[in-house]
Amino acid sequence: MMEPTKKSDQIREMFKKIAPRYDFLNRLLSLGIDKHWRRDAVKNIRSRCAGRVLDIATGTGDMALEAAKATDPSVTIIAVDFCPAMVDIARNKIIASPWRDRVALGVASCEALPFQNNVYDSAIIAFGIRNVVNRLLGLEEIFRILQPGGRIIILEFSTPQSKIVKTVYHFYFRRLLPAIGGLFSDSGAYRYLPDSVLEFPDQDAFKKMLIEAGFENVSHSVYTCGIVTCYLGDKPLTPSLHTHQP
Ligand SMILES: C[S@@+](CC[C@H](N)C(=O)[O-])C[C@H]1O[C@@H](n2cnc3c(N)ncnc32)[C@H](O)[C@@H]1O
Repeated sequence: MMEPTKKSDQIREMFKKIAPRYDFLNRLLSLGIDKHWRRDAVKNIRSRCAGRVLDIATGTGDMALEAAKATDPSVTIIAVDFCPAMVDIARNKIIASPWRDRVALGVASCEALPFQNNVYDSAIIAFGIRNVVNRLLGLEEIFRILQPGGRIIILEFSTPQSKIVKTVYHFYFRRLLPAIGGLFSDSGAYRYLPDSVLEFPDQDAFKKMLIEAGFENVSHSVYTCGIVTCYLGDKPLTPSLHTHQP
């Protein structure tokens, strides 16, 4: 098995290669539905006046911008990604947006967030968690930086239940997506994408991991026939023996 740091380096390299065409291919390959998934997910943000929301694995910043749009103007959005090439693209989009004064960007890995304990009202990670090599550590880090009562919102691809939808989905992910991705961008990356989606745990297994990381009120809802799942979890208001306090 590959060493975790080496695997993370490879994933970062891969995102660097696809960064210039990432937005274009996202819109093309999802037929624009990805915008609706993000818009719906940000409705779950919990934030106080002058609060802080963290967008992890922000990529080109779409989720951070949706979060800014959906929250009170007093709320600050901090967006991080471990791939500087993605962050550069996000920066240009944020500067050109009406939310430029409310979104701050940085380079950071989900498994080692450079923030103090208990500071964020909500944390989001959209289509990022399946790429995090040490997933439990990543979730524990998110738990650590959230305030008691803070919320985690995760969007991720999932395997649909319906046999017909599953067949179409597998054809799309295994055949169509690598072919189209290869035409416009790095073909290796668009072969990795379906593999990473298909190996991601099912909803029940992933919710168990969220509970293991310390979250409560863990739930999920599916979008677009179950091809995407939105997971929610709250950091308990009172620390339990399980919680990861300093
Ligand atoms: C599929 S993109 C999703 C980007 C964005 N959230 C969106 O909704 O379009 C995945 C992003 O996760 C980032 N990523 C992968 N592993 C990471 C990690 N361990 N820590 C931080 N970012 C990571 C990649 O660099 C990439 O930008």
